[in-house]
Amino acid sequence: MLHRRRRIAVVPGDGIGPEVIAVGLQLLEAINHHLQLNLEVVMKDWGATLWLQEGIGLPAGALDDLSANYDAIYFGALGDPRIPDMAHGKEILLGIRQGLDLFVNMRPVKLLDESLGILKNKQKIDFVVMRENTEDLYTFIGGNFKKGTMDEVAIDQSVHTRKGVERIIRYAFEYAQENKCQKVTLGDKSNAISFGGSLWQRVFKEVSREYPSIKADHLFVDVMAMEMVCHPGRFDVIVTSNLFGDILTDLGAGLVGGLGMSASANIYPGKIGLFEPVHGSAPDIAGKKQANPIAALLTAGMMLDFLSVPGVLLAIEQAVILAITNQEVTPDLGGLQTTSEVGQFVIRETIRCLLGE
Ligand code: NAD
Ligand code: IPM
Ligand code: MN
Repeated sequence: MLHRRRRIAVVPGDGIGPEVIAVGLQLLEAINHHLQLNLEVVMKDWGATLWLQEGIGLPAGALDDLSANYDAIYFGALGDPRIPDMAHGKEILLGIRQGLDLFVNMRPVKLLDESLGILKNKQKIDFVVMRENTEDLYTFIGGNFKKGTMDEVAIDQSVHTRKGVERIIRYAFEYAQENKCQKVTLGDKSNAISFGGSLWQRVFKEVSREYPSIKADHLFVDVMAMEMVCHPGRFDVIVTSNLFGDILTDLGAGLVGGLGMSASANIYPGKIGLFEPVHGSAPDIAGKKQANPIAALLTAGMMLDFLSVPGVLLAIEQAVILAITNQEVTPDLGGLQTTSEVGQFVIRETIRCLLGE
């Protein structure tokens, strides 16, 4: 079957970003070759070096170009010790999330192999966090007063709109319905944060009534963090605001083998999406060939899933499980392999699985 051309913008970024994306691109190339997907990749050099050398973060016109000419963005990570305030990351990553209105940040928390679990209490861990991705404390609204003095005031405003809250909650319920999940759990802090908290509470109740077959559940986000550790099996779909989702998903990564295992999708249904591992640029291990590429490989699988290529994500998961059981893993998972060695193993097994070998 001849597939229509799909164009992917690739942003390797900083630190281990280029190391794990290089492996991800090899996987995409192999899959493209075997399944004749007609994928085309276009490299983008956005990141710390371009920022420091030319003062360019997200080039002028980039957002329009991305939405007009691409089907997906495959993204590594940003973050460089020479830019401690992440000014370039705010412009590039948050600029794309907000500029393309990618309001869903979907982050699965799935334990692929029991040996990676750190909990004494063995339970199924397979849920997904739907993190609101455009609002909350990420809107750059605020400022300083008397900056640099002992009387300094710093304000960051947390923004929650009716539209923003409703669409992520609705997406969580729609996802639950389509994927036969039993429950959507809202994580908020409405016992302390009055106005935004109340909006989330009211909209959650309202939207949940439209989905009577799905249980609408609520936890305050502090106890949600504890429950993720003590009873992770109770979760199906979690929906939460931007900052809480950021924190909870690093916690989630810790439950399933660490940041090297966690993939994510930033999406606006029906439009171009940005796919990236949950982890950052990991400057502590950059250049050491130690970065675990699995998060980036699973992310490539999520991207193909969103591009309507069936079966690939599952094949990558099977290959990853094999890599874990064979100890073909990087030091974060207790192995001795390099980034590229793990990549070669997972790529070979993914293709085998896809070809039914
Ligand atoms: P981080 O995710 O980069 O690293 C946290 C810890 O996890 C480090 O010890 C690191 O070595 C380890 N780790 C992360 N990914 C790994 C992998 N694939 N394999 C093995 N170990 C891995 O978070 P941080 O240290 O808080 O942040 C570093 C930089 O990355 C900062 O500039 C931060 O702002 C940025 N960051 C960017 C993104 C993104 O671009 N999406 C996400 C998170 C953090
Ligand atoms: C993430 C990251 C980003 C976030 C940072 C780098 C702005 O931590 O994608 O999880 O907070 O969203
Ligand atoms: Mn994060």
